[in-house]
Amino acid sequence: MLVQQSSELKNEILKLKKEKDVVILAHNYQIPDVQDISDFTGDSLGLSRQAAAVDQKTILFCGVHFMAETAAIISPDKKILLPDLQAGCSLSDSITVDELRDWKRQHPSAITVGYVNTTAEIKAELDYCCTSSNAVNVVKAIPKDKEILFLPDMFLGSFVAKMTQRKNMYIWAGECHVHAGITPEDITKKLASVKDAEFLIHPECSCTTPLLYDVADGSFDDQKVSILSTDGMLNHVRESKAKNFVVATETGILYKMRQQNPGKTFIPASEKAECQYMKMITLEKVYDSLINEKNVITVPKEIADKARRAINRMLAIS
Ligand code: 13P
Ligand code: SF4
Repeated sequence: MLVQQSSELKNEILKLKKEKDVVILAHNYQIPDVQDISDFTGDSLGLSRQAAAVDQKTILFCGVHFMAETAAIISPDKKILLPDLQAGCSLSDSITVDELRDWKRQHPSAITVGYVNTTAEIKAELDYCCTSSNAVNVVKAIPKDKEILFLPDMFLGSFVAKMTQRKNMYIWAGECHVHAGITPEDITKKLASVKDAEFLIHPECSCTTPLLYDVADGSFDDQKVSILSTDGMLNHVRESKAKNFVVATETGILYKMRQQNPGKTFIPASEKAECQYMKMITLEKVYDSLINEKNVITVPKEIADKARRAINRMLAIS
């Protein structure tokens, strides 16, 4: 889109959301234009909290389907709009509700902890929900003698098991194709070429599993390597005295990092780490959804009521 067209559309959206009293929430991986017209940007936990706190009766959610569903579960009286209903998530798709029920049957006394990247139906089956920023604390809050079923991200799961020293955690073998696609070679190359950089890793990354273990073991100087959610990364780079950062997550986060820290340099661990689902949300679709109040996300009450328990337990801990 031409710059002029895009700025006209942005102005239209800003005007319309005011007239209609709609709040726009956007995930940190959204394209820059979409981040620009949003009222709040954040990670999964931050956006869940915003969805619960905002006064507006309509939330336009710029992110992927499970995020909009989470907002609908937390705020059942609000109207939740998602600009593109096809904006899914490979991680969320990596477990079905039947597979989860079957797994639970095999471990009848286990506590189930599920990542926020899951469908509403899955959340309705969970004891606890968690996000990348609070998974360790959620697991720590569960009595040590209780078996845990952790799903669906195997890399986050093994990191949490390591950080909590849990031996009784069963981990589902799911993954996010974007983070799984950041290879060990990408990391070693970047670490070798940018010697004085701090290294930030999202816990969904597969490439870094060996590194995650080393960090959890304390083998790295924790000033140098940090494992963080997307908001955790943004806070970290703002506070850090370092000048250069290698960032292992979806590249959408670099926009905010660069905008908020003009004197610092941010290098993606992999330039190819782009989530095509997140990038489905465009200004045109935001406008269309806003003007026509189109693509309303609803969750059946029975499922939402069950799913809310797991989300509220998480919100109470973190
Ligand atoms: P956070 O923003 O919560 O760290 O999650 C990243 C992610 O992959 C969301 O899809
Ligand atoms: Fe899902 Fe991965 Fe995309 Fe996040 S980056 S929405 S986990 S596919």
